[in-house]
Amino acid sequence: MRPTHYLSRRAVLAGLGTTAVAATLAACATSGSSGSKSGGAAGEGDASQVDVVTWWSAGSEKLGLDALVKVFNEQFPKTKFENKAVSGGAGSQAKQKLAADLAAKNPPDTYQAHAGAEIKDHIEAGYLLDVSSLYEEFKLNEAFPAALMDRLKDSDGKIYSVPSNIHRANVVWASVPALKAAGLDPTKPATTIDAWIADMEKVKAAGLTPITMGMAWTQLELLETILIADLGVDAYNGLFDGKTDWGGAEVTKALEHYKTIVGYTDSSLYTEDWEPAMKPIMDGKAAFNVMGDWAVAGFDAAGKKAGEDYVYFPVPGTDGIFDFLADSFTLPDGAKHPGGAKNWLNAISSKDGQIAFNTVKGSIPARTDLTDEEKGKFSEYQRSAMESFAKDKIVSSIAHGAALPAKATNAMNDALTKFAQGASDVTALQADLKAAVAS
Ligand code: GAL
Repeated sequence: MRPTHYLSRRAVLAGLGTTAVAATLAACATSGSSGSKSGGAAGEGDASQVDVVTWWSAGSEKLGLDALVKVFNEQFPKTKFENKAVSGGAGSQAKQKLAADLAAKNPPDTYQAHAGAEIKDHIEAGYLLDVSSLYEEFKLNEAFPAALMDRLKDSDGKIYSVPSNIHRANVVWASVPALKAAGLDPTKPATTIDAWIADMEKVKAAGLTPITMGMAWTQLELLETILIADLGVDAYNGLFDGKTDWGGAEVTKALEHYKTIVGYTDSSLYTEDWEPAMKPIMDGKAAFNVMGDWAVAGFDAAGKKAGEDYVYFPVPGTDGIFDFLADSFTLPDGAKHPGGAKNWLNAISSKDGQIAFNTVKGSIPARTDLTDEEKGKFSEYQRSAMESFAKDKIVSSIAHGAALPAKATNAMNDALTKFAQGASDVTALQADLKAAVAS
């Protein structure tokens, strides 16, 4: 089997691993969520324009947004789209500006967030409106899969965002020329972390960079996939509901693996976003990078061909597991153009919007009601991801907001920055991660 098909190899029941996030959201709902808003009239009001905050400001991500805006303009020609994108991968800058604007009661009409625990703090602070009524109106309850709906709902069944897509985070992108230079067969990727490390050693011996990683959130994405590989689905899920001890021996083992792998990276990339960190893979100067499947859009935009220039495969040890995240848009309380926001949420969740956006973005539609003909519009990678999402065990991404509230994720990012720039002390990292989750 060619490795470009490799993500869809295993057939495992879908929908497992959702309880951890449901429990997290339930905890949000019971721990002082008095500020959260609800009601049946979400999105009534001025629809003359919509100010939309994303971090899709450049490159392949901007192309995805442009495709979505095109459909939006067709569907709602009377609502003017105002692009308020803030550059910085994974929202590293947008989230800081948003925090200030939301606290100052100056919200945009809608903003990009992630399905799952990430928006807990915003719900508790009363920044967001319950959009459950829009799910009824747009008939989304039937269109979205259970694994996604479980992550969107709080314990009262309220929903505070509308997803535009589903991304997968546990994917290795590998350079075919670099693998060949190291004497590795691109069609036979490693299936365990230890075998993968042995491959990295061969790449190093060939004089190339074994693996790249960029700024903190890319480091957290790499780490979470190693945790999934070493802990397995149940123990990984337990990290978010208290059943697995962040201070335990299995986490230590994963962190030792992480330390070894970080030792094969190029530290000059540690302040870079995902695209510069992926470039050495595209240029054949480095072998591996772990990144969400927005990377496939980056390879496409650079004219690179799957199978010839690059291959993709699940992070070794995570075959049959889909590390989930979804971009999901909100309706802030006090938005100046709530009608515009409603139209945006309508367009991004519509079939046409999801097909136009996702074919360009590398993700798969959140909707499950696509016909075979509509699925045929997607790339081979994306069709394999759709198949995996339907069959694999689903776990929640930490780096992309599905698993933990933003505060905990931010503290983890700080811990990883300290680790990468300092003495690479596993004991200190483990203590910092445990404290981050407790925060
Ligand atoms: C993620 C987001 C993706 C992509 C990525 C890199 O958080 O969900 O859509 O934009 O960041 O910027």
